[in-house]
Amino acid sequence: MYRTHNCNQLRKTDIGYEVKLSGWVAVRRDHGGVIFIDLRDREGLTQVVFRPEENAEVAKQSHSLRPEDVIQVTGKVAPRLPGTENPKLATGEIEVIPNSLTILNRAENLPFQLDTELSNEDLELTYRYYDLRRPRLSRNLQIRHRVTQATREYLDSQGFLEIETPILSKSTPEGARDFLVPSRLIPGKFYALPQAPQQYKQLLMVAGMEKYFQIAKAFRDEDLRADRQPEFTQIDIEASFVTADDIYTLTEGMLAAIFKAARGVEIPKPFPRLTYREAVSTFGSDKPDRRFGMQLVDLGDVFAASEFKVFRGALDSGGVVKAINAKNFAEITIGQADELTAIAKTFGAKGLAFIKIEDGEWKSPIVKFFSETEKEALRSKLQIEQGDLVLFAADKWEIACEVLGRIRLRIAEIQKLTAGSERLDFLWVTDFPLMQWSAEENKWNAVHHPFTRPKMEDLPLLDEKKFSEMRADAYDVVLNGVEIGGGSIRIHEPELQAKMFDALGISAEEQQTKFGHLLRAFRLGAPPHGGIALGLDRLVMLICGEQSIRDVMAFPKNNRGQELMTQSPAPVDPKQLRELGIKLGSDNS
Ligand code: AMO
Ligand code: AMP
Repeated sequence: MYRTHNCNQLRKTDIGYEVKLSGWVAVRRDHGGVIFIDLRDREGLTQVVFRPEENAEVAKQSHSLRPEDVIQVTGKVAPRLPGTENPKLATGEIEVIPNSLTILNRAENLPFQLDTELSNEDLELTYRYYDLRRPRLSRNLQIRHRVTQATREYLDSQGFLEIETPILSKSTPEGARDFLVPSRLIPGKFYALPQAPQQYKQLLMVAGMEKYFQIAKAFRDEDLRADRQPEFTQIDIEASFVTADDIYTLTEGMLAAIFKAARGVEIPKPFPRLTYREAVSTFGSDKPDRRFGMQLVDLGDVFAASEFKVFRGALDSGGVVKAINAKNFAEITIGQADELTAIAKTFGAKGLAFIKIEDGEWKSPIVKFFSETEKEALRSKLQIEQGDLVLFAADKWEIACEVLGRIRLRIAEIQKLTAGSERLDFLWVTDFPLMQWSAEENKWNAVHHPFTRPKMEDLPLLDEKKFSEMRADAYDVVLNGVEIGGGSIRIHEPELQAKMFDALGISAEEQQTKFGHLLRAFRLGAPPHGGIALGLDRLVMLICGEQSIRDVMAFPKNNRGQELMTQSPAPVDPKQLRELGIKLGSDNS
């Protein structure tokens, strides 16, 4: 037997008992011949003290111990000397006085210290199995486990079946590039790794499974960010004979069960809802962070007849003038102002106008163009006070909203408006646009995916080809400004699906080769259905209070898509390529 207890278990009530512990030497301190070890396992730490007067031989042996050696100790639980208790540690009132020490394995040449934060992520990822010993990361994986367990339990209780779908599959359009896998048996053909199990789950509805879920891996070849990995995990759900409201209730119940299990908190239900239009107009984002104010205020009526050409001109050409009031930010530095202007330009603005309210004055080169009435209207609409900074964008609705939305987030970051906040702000964003014009491709694209159902009342617009006005029966669930999930009610009629493909510029031939299976399935009695997928990694990141989904994944990839520990992607044997009938271009061979 290696152990009688784990390293987070012993308490005062165990004093006097003989115990056996196994784990890693987290810290070793030498206090004049007395060796103190913090022994660590997955559950926590226990102090082990080797005193020569108690057991000279074992104490001598302990001198060779180094951090991360794996050891086993047998000994007596003893109270810590008065004044040396550690209230921060669950086992802080006791220590173990060993009568035997077994060194199970040595650790050599540690790549870095585990008790200090490193800023070399590549090094940490190279030694990920070592990095994961950090209590923070280990705790994150334990929380992730709690989340998936709670998910399975909840969905099972609601009658959902966990069904696996293929990984070697066919391209399904979710808006990213596919990862391809060449087939050896059928040379020249490729599998695509699923960007989501979207079509399979819909086909399971046609199959009469009625309620499906899967903790599913999804693969997307796209640019990586803190909340994006090339492979990630979805809590993927689909159900038949449901409306959007049914999906909202189900998702809210599931998230409540998850937060109860993983954080011990009750979350208020139902979640508030905003339409896409409202969210973007008010917060400049389709995933608004509502934990702070600084809302976008529309100033169209204020400047409709203004002398200030920049604002008036934007309105005259069908655009908007919007502003945000950043409270207590009049002391913005020149560097910060330049940064905000650069953000505005990146997102398409022609400029960014500021007014600082300082020393009882409105300081800005543009104030001289404003009439007294305009100033008064601004003051009341934006609740302008001493110390405020007001920022304006005059542009097309989309651009003005996005620019101010980005700036709002950046200012909140600078002012640390959400730091230390425990608030969990869940909300639904509904009524997304169905399609979006791509100037680059010169065609309409689906905002969600091409299987998303238009809103019933907008259906006639499809025949009228007023695509830009069409709304989808699609929804996202947002937590603290992060999109944690998205879904929709689907098209289940073959004619409507074909019409939708037409609108998206998918030719009849392509419809057959790419989606023939789906169109055929819909002709065999497809029930009305809909679903959602939650980004498990993002959800767990927020539950753990982390900034990056890498911190809640066991073996994540770096921002170039490399898994540094095993060094993938890697070159392959030319023989493997020959078997697959693949020849590399000369640049890569
Ligand atoms: P969607 O594309 O919105 O919907 O994805 C669902 C959720 O998955 C998360 N997510 C990601 N997480 C980490 N890394 C990524 N690269 C990444 N991409 C997406 C997000 C997102 O909300 N088939 C549809 C769902 C449906 O219609 O039922 C789908 O995949 O949190
Ligand atoms: P200008 O008349 O071009 O010198 O602009 C006067 C001020 O208005 C400057 O601070 C510009 O950054 C700002 N500005 C210019 N265009 C816009 C716009 N579309 N929206 C908001 N501010 C703008």
